[in-house]
Amino acid sequence: PTKLRVSQALSGAELGSNIKVQGWVRSVRAQKANVFLHVNDGSSLQSLQVIASSELNDPLLTFGSAVEVTGILKKSPHQKQPVELDAKQINVVGECNPVDFPFKIKERHGLEYIRQFPHLRCRTNAFSSLLRIRSEATAAIHSYFKDNGFVEINTPIITSNDCEGAGELFQVEPSGPDHADGENFFSVPAYLTVSGQLHLEVVSGAFSKAYTFGPTFRAENSQSRRHLAEFYMVEAEISFTQSLEDLTKDTVDAMLKNSFPVITYREAIDILRRSSERFAFPTDWGCDLKTEHEKYLVKHCGNIPVFVTDYPYDLKPFYARDNQDHPERTAAAVDLLVPGVGELCGGSLREERLNLLSARLEEAGLEDVYSWYLDLRRFGSVPHGGFGLGFERYLQCILGVDNIKDVIPFPRFSHSCLL
Ligand code: 4AD
Ligand code: MG
Repeated sequence: PTKLRVSQALSGAELGSNIKVQGWVRSVRAQKANVFLHVNDGSSLQSLQVIASSELNDPLLTFGSAVEVTGILKKSPHQKQPVELDAKQINVVGECNPVDFPFKIKERHGLEYIRQFPHLRCRTNAFSSLLRIRSEATAAIHSYFKDNGFVEINTPIITSNDCEGAGELFQVEPSGPDHADGENFFSVPAYLTVSGQLHLEVVSGAFSKAYTFGPTFRAENSQSRRHLAEFYMVEAEISFTQSLEDLTKDTVDAMLKNSFPVITYREAIDILRRSSERFAFPTDWGCDLKTEHEKYLVKHCGNIPVFVTDYPYDLKPFYARDNQDHPERTAAAVDLLVPGVGELCGGSLREERLNLLSARLEEAGLEDVYSWYLDLRRFGSVPHGGFGLGFERYLQCILGVDNIKDVIPFPRFSHSCLL
């Protein structure tokens, strides 16, 4: 027999041939004379219908068991599926006890239930479909950046800088008998990266357009529906750009297939203060926008994504560009807020002026740590900016998935690092 994947068999190319498929049983239905199976090997969303005489039936042919089926591929008399496999031989490769298997045939398990089984949940239709879309979206993002002239850069996972300065770092230390004396492996404190931005700025100073798409880590003690300790971020950095609008709009609008309203932080504060809603957190100028505020602003704008720009200077990290021409002290920073998720994307123009940047770093006592970053402003500095988009939040947003833990294969969050 010719070994085929289910997708190949379904394409009908081998009609009339003796074939063999391998996969997992998605359904079993026994009638007097025949037994009907659906077999799926993950090569297609669809399963292959198998029909066998009841002598081939086996009590081990249960939902979830792994099988190898040999038979003749035929045109199906039913309209629902193009082909069926007329089985001559069925081997159960791996049994699956239906009493112990957490997923039951014909039951629609919710994402919350299946999340309890991180090692088994990709056996369900619901979760495997999410992972398939995640894979497609990853490919689409890479091709967007390639098509638009960006160079992909692998920024380091271990780093000595705290880009965001928010203090949500995981420190990296060696372990094992060779390191028992508490040596400092890198000679400086080292951390898992919270953002590849600063490294991207290094390379955008040569390539003009650079991006990275990799894991980032934050020790956030949050049990929320939208925070992970390990998440993927799409980050882009563009040289010779002078407007926030140019910076994010093209990419984000392309990824969300639309264009969206832009309001300033000042306007956002005014909207919040005018509303009759009772917020738990203050809405004074200078306050951080909390989840409740983000939700309200999105609703206010008609339940569509909205860009908020020009945040108070003191709310933003040292790299954000000072909007010196504004009456209130603001930085050229932008967040994109989206329905159901809140902040999807954060970006800014970067302070490219050496005097302003070094003054700010000195104020924070960071001028030595970031002397290399100041060099970027000493040698061929140009107006530039970039942004980071949380990939899991993006998936949550486009798929309407309530909990971020359901759009990543192996979620890590506080008090949970399973598998
Ligand atoms: O707004 P953030 O902190 O921005 C930066 O790190 C910039 N240095 C990026 C840049 O300009 N290159 O993070 C960017 C995005 C957020 O808008 C959010 O979507 C996502 O990363 N994010 C998280 N996603 C899941 N879990 C968390 N704990 C997240 N923290 C941030
Ligand atoms: Mg942010």
